[in-house]
Amino acid sequence: MGKLIGIFLLALALCHLSHSEQDWWENGNFYQIYPRSFKDSDGDGVGDLNGVNEKLEYVKDIGMKGVWLSPIFQSPMADFGYDISNYTKVQPEYGTNEDLLALTERAHSLGLHLILDFVPNHTSDEHEWFQRSVANDSYYRDFYIWHDGVINSTTGERQPPSNWISQFRYSAWEWNEQRQQYYLHQFGVKQPDLNYRNPNVVEEMNNVLRFWLARGIDGFRIDAVPFLFEVEIDPQTGTYPDEPLSSDISTCPDPDDWCHLNHTFTNSLPEDIEIIYQWRELVDQWTSEHNTDTKVLLTEAYTSFENLMHMYGDGLRNGSHVPFNFEMLAGLNNKSSASDYDYYVHHWLSNMPKGVYANWVLGNHDNPRLASRFGAQRADLMNIFLQTLPGIAVTYNGEEYGMENGYVSWEDTVDPQGCNADPTTYLQYSRDSERTPFLWDNTTNAGFSTANHTWLPIGQSYADNNVAAQLAAENSHLKIFKQLTQLRQSEAAFIDGSYVSVVVKNVLVYIRAAETGDKYIVVLNIGDENVSLNLGTLFDDLSAKLEVVVSSLHSDIPNGQIVNANSFEAKAYNGYVLRLTN
Ligand code: GLC
Ligand code: MG
Repeated sequence: MGKLIGIFLLALALCHLSHSEQDWWENGNFYQIYPRSFKDSDGDGVGDLNGVNEKLEYVKDIGMKGVWLSPIFQSPMADFGYDISNYTKVQPEYGTNEDLLALTERAHSLGLHLILDFVPNHTSDEHEWFQRSVANDSYYRDFYIWHDGVINSTTGERQPPSNWISQFRYSAWEWNEQRQQYYLHQFGVKQPDLNYRNPNVVEEMNNVLRFWLARGIDGFRIDAVPFLFEVEIDPQTGTYPDEPLSSDISTCPDPDDWCHLNHTFTNSLPEDIEIIYQWRELVDQWTSEHNTDTKVLLTEAYTSFENLMHMYGDGLRNGSHVPFNFEMLAGLNNKSSASDYDYYVHHWLSNMPKGVYANWVLGNHDNPRLASRFGAQRADLMNIFLQTLPGIAVTYNGEEYGMENGYVSWEDTVDPQGCNADPTTYLQYSRDSERTPFLWDNTTNAGFSTANHTWLPIGQSYADNNVAAQLAAENSHLKIFKQLTQLRQSEAAFIDGSYVSVVVKNVLVYIRAAETGDKYIVVLNIGDENVSLNLGTLFDDLSAKLEVVVSSLHSDIPNGQIVNANSFEAKAYNGYVLRLTN
């Protein structure tokens, strides 16, 4: 009971911390770097750690506090690093362990925190554990999920133990000649699923976390959480149960496609959340034993809203610091209305447990880029939205300057999810488009690399549109982004101010107000029609004059301009941040 009261008081105390007392990650600004495409320092056409190191000042300059890197560990690259063959060794293409330590130190010297991608669900089939498991080495025998398969009563032939489908298409079971059994892979054939019901697997993976914590890493983004556990074998039948067809197979008629089934036995099991609590305990214990800055967990889970809330903790135990808000990511598209935007903000804010921070994520290396998904006209609006909401913002590299999806032909396609499709459908599946190289300047390969051939093509013209050009321009997406992150750091209203919203036609309007009385109004015209607003009638105590502090590139309003609250023109697709004047 004493413990319970302690937790409750802590939750209350957290809510009343003044912003100077906020911990580094609270209300933080996180940046996802996809290292393969960020900056190539040695001219082999593949981005690397020294490339990231060269560009850390940029990351700091755009206002970030934390950086998470997609996987940089030894890997045959069947899923571009999400297939790891050694969790404690940097992939030579990306550099050395020393380069990673140097990067960590440099990040710290700039006041940045560095987070690594932890991929616990599966290893590469080239990982020593898998090879030993194939060889039936006793300690490793049950490190993965193996099964003899079942005999089809009509044909008399052996077939996989269940109908389970891989996220990358086709059966999730693959026959292994040497061991004469099937193994489970919820992703690619070269990504065998680890068996989390084996305590030795859990302990080995805990040791991976400890290895990197001991080297100064500030936390982990945990990959593919809903896939960690599968249902146990059915003792009656000696095999695994088939999964039912999806309730709406008309939207996914192809029987080889993952969406064809309802993944009741392989996805989002309660055990997945339980292990997140254990990993939280591990990092918290590390932090207190070594008296370091807080080590944080960010979790990747496309799962139900209830599960996402549960990921934060269960009232007694804590879980993920940042359960990525994929409700909003999956819910919004270019047809969404202002009410939809409003709904997703409120739904999260009003349901999250006490004492935690909300988080907002709209892009990553698995989803089309913001400017392509919501329309290039809305590029600034989306950034204004993300940066002015209460809580933690997560930005995928490139979104800060409105980068669009790159074009990758079928011949150049390398993503396994794209390659498993065909030349007519691959663009629906391939994630290469959001992974094309970063556009730094107008030199060869947009300044990404000096190589003749880059691992993915530079996906768009970059002569006039690149980071250097946007920094030199009087105004640009990037400059707007920097103004936003600046406001977030300096203005109490955005650090821990309250949030109150209204929707008028297709416009979302909200006030962020600090206890000191400072107030900002954010106006986001999501729709395709200009709207004239009388803001004075929407909120109490509004001054008659408002100052535009930031707005979309095409708003035609210079920063600093004073406008009338009772006749404010919000242009279609444009966003505005307005300050109340006295
Ligand atoms: C996560 C990653 C994705 C990867 C998959 C398998 O969803 O974000 O890129 O393919 O896990 O590791
Ligand atoms: Mg699994």
